[in-house]
This record gives sequence, C-alpha cells and structure tokens, in this order.
Amino acid sequence: VTAPAATSPDPTLLHELQTPAAVVDLDRLAYNVDRMAAYAAVHGLALRPHVKTHKSPRVAAEQIRSGATGVTCATVREAEVMSEVTDDVFVAYPVIGRAKLERLMRLPPSVRLIVAVDSADANDELAAAASAAGREVRVRVELDVGMRRVGVAGPEAAVALAQEVAGTRGLLFDGVTFYPGHIRQAQAEQGDDLARLSASLGTVLAALERAGLPARSVSGGSTPAAWRMHEIHGLTEVRPGTYVYNDRTTVAVGACAWDDCAFTVLATVVSTSVAGQAVIDAGTKALAREPMPGAADQGWGALLDRPEVTVMRMSEEHGVLDLSQTSWKPEVGDVVRVVPNHVCVAQHLFDEVVGARGRVVETRWAVAARGR
Ligand SMILES: Cc1ncc(COP(=O)(O)O)c(C=O)c1O
Repeated sequence: VTAPAATSPDPTLLHELQTPAAVVDLDRLAYNVDRMAAYAAVHGLALRPHVKTHKSPRVAAEQIRSGATGVTCATVREAEVMSEVTDDVFVAYPVIGRAKLERLMRLPPSVRLIVAVDSADANDELAAAASAAGREVRVRVELDVGMRRVGVAGPEAAVALAQEVAGTRGLLFDGVTFYPGHIRQAQAEQGDDLARLSASLGTVLAALERAGLPARSVSGGSTPAAWRMHEIHGLTEVRPGTYVYNDRTTVAVGACAWDDCAFTVLATVVSTSVAGQAVIDAGTKALAREPMPGAADQGWGALLDRPEVTVMRMSEEHGVLDLSQTSWKPEVGDVVRVVPNHVCVAQHLFDEVVGARGRVVETRWAVAARGR
C-alpha cells in the first residue's frame, strides 16, 4: 500500500469537501441560538440547553454567550467535555454505577453539579460517591409527566423522594425536573397536554411546599414544545436541545421553519444507473435510521434545496433518492445537502463538523463529547 499523496490545502467551498460530511450553517445556528435565548428571556425562564444534539464545546460556548445559564447533559462524557466551557452542569439522567459516579465526582471543583434522580437507590449511590469525593451535589427529583420513561409519578412519590434527598448528607435538594417528550404533536395542538401537565406539576409543587421542601428549580422542556413552555405554571428553567440545529421532525411539528435547519449531511451522487432514483454516499452510517413521527414511508431525510426529494431507502453507505416528485435530473458527482429526520443521532455519527457560511467553509470543530 502506498502512502496517500500529500494532501491539498483545506477546501474552502462546500462542494470541494470529501463526503459524507456534517455541515453546520453558521448563520442559521446563530439565529437558532439567539431566538431561543430571546424566548427564554422574554418569559423570565432560565435556559439550560441539552448538549446531546451538538456534543461540542464550541456550540455550547455560543449558547452560553447568548444567555444560557449552564448546560444539560445525558452522559458523564458530555459533562466532562462541557466543563471546559461552563461551571454549571446538570446531568438530567440517572447516573448509576460506581465507575460513572467516580468520573462525575472528578469534574473540576469549580463546577456546580446538579444530578437528576428518580429512585432512593440512585440517591444512595450518588450520596456515597459525593461523600467519598467530599463534593456537594445538588439533586433534582425527576418526575414522570406523561412520557413514561423515567421519573416518579404523583405528589406522594415526589415528596417521599425529595425528603430522602434532603435528609442525605452531602446532597442538596434543588427542585424537580421533567421531560415532556410525549408532547410531539403540532405546536398548535399542544394546548390540552400542556394544561394537563401544568395542573399535575402544580399538585407536586404544592405538596413539596406543604412538606417544607419548596422546589427552587423547576426544570423542563423540549424542542417540539419549546415555544409554549411558558404556559406551564411554576416552571423556572427550559432545556431544549434539538432547536440548535433542528431537523425534519422539528419542521414537521411546526417548531421551526425549513430554513432554520442548520445541520445537513453533505453527500455526493454516486450512481444514477437505476431509473427513477439516484444514489448518494450517505446511508445509515451518515443519516441514522430514524423514522419520522406519524405516517410511514416519509423516508430517512430530505434534500435541503429540494425538500420534495427524500431518501427512500438506505444501506450502510448508500442512500437512495426518490426522484418521482421532482423535475431535477441529478448527475453523478452532484453534491447535495440532506436534512436528517433526527439530527442528534445523525451528528453523533461524525467525528467532526464543518461550519460554513453560505457555500464557504469557515471553520471545523470536533464532536468532542461523542462516545461515552
Ligand atoms: C432529559 C431531557 N431534557 C431535554 C431534552 C431536549 O429535548 P429536545 O431534543 O426535544 O430538544 C431531552 C431530549 O432527549 C432530554 O432527554
């Protein structure tokens, strides 16, 4: 095997990049970041974006510059990487197991660490690790508000766990947290679910008050419901993640416009030999096999500049474009940008992201918190 020839200087135009590549439009990113910060500010809500969408300190720093008070993480790795750019980290995930907890306790001492728990077991494990490390940890009790994933349900269970936390040395009861992931319908149709959520949250907050454990922070939120979170009484903090890049699903629920999709997978047409379709070099290993919510057969992504063209089938390295709805006649070598169905999973498939303004490549950054 001969060594590759000396590499040419970095390409400066998008169509010169090797594909598949993850590309972020820097203007759209800035717009999304600022728009959410403005929403939170107008409604007096703290903004603590979930970093699982971008996993990059470069983007987290931009969110913090525009007003985010800290970040939300799902993994210990995310918390470690994000502590480079913020000293306010919320791990909104039950951290179970000594090895993970020990890593978490080794975050820089300047980091104000908050962790979600939904069981006495998680509370005890956290307390043991915190006490071994001599570290103070704030704890939020996770509530199940309808998603049925994690969280305790109802005021009695919430008060019991809050009492457990408050009675544990080294842990500080900080409040409650919930993820309204079950609210995924179109924005205009979310009213009833939000009202129900607000009412049930209200009973929990009132019970905590009565028990002498008022929730200092009440943290919740998602991208599909992002623009209506102020309708939830008592909320103090919002935690959207996907909004930073957006994707086909976010457009489908009406939480952003098509032109707000900041992340695309750049791909090259590699074959047009089968009539009625074209094949690009982005398959499941670049786009992820994430279905659109609702009706089947909506494909696995759509072209940014021609949304009528969808990725109808995929192999690992092949994406098959459906040309039945377009007058476009792609040729081998054409470069396209694909908006994935679910951006968080797609971007996690790349080591590096290219930041572009228009068609000009301006910067690159590592997806530093990838892996675990
Ligand atoms: C606990 C938690 N908080 C916040 C978010 C962010 O929500 P979204 O991806 O809808 O922006 C998620 C997403 O999975 C989450 O699991």
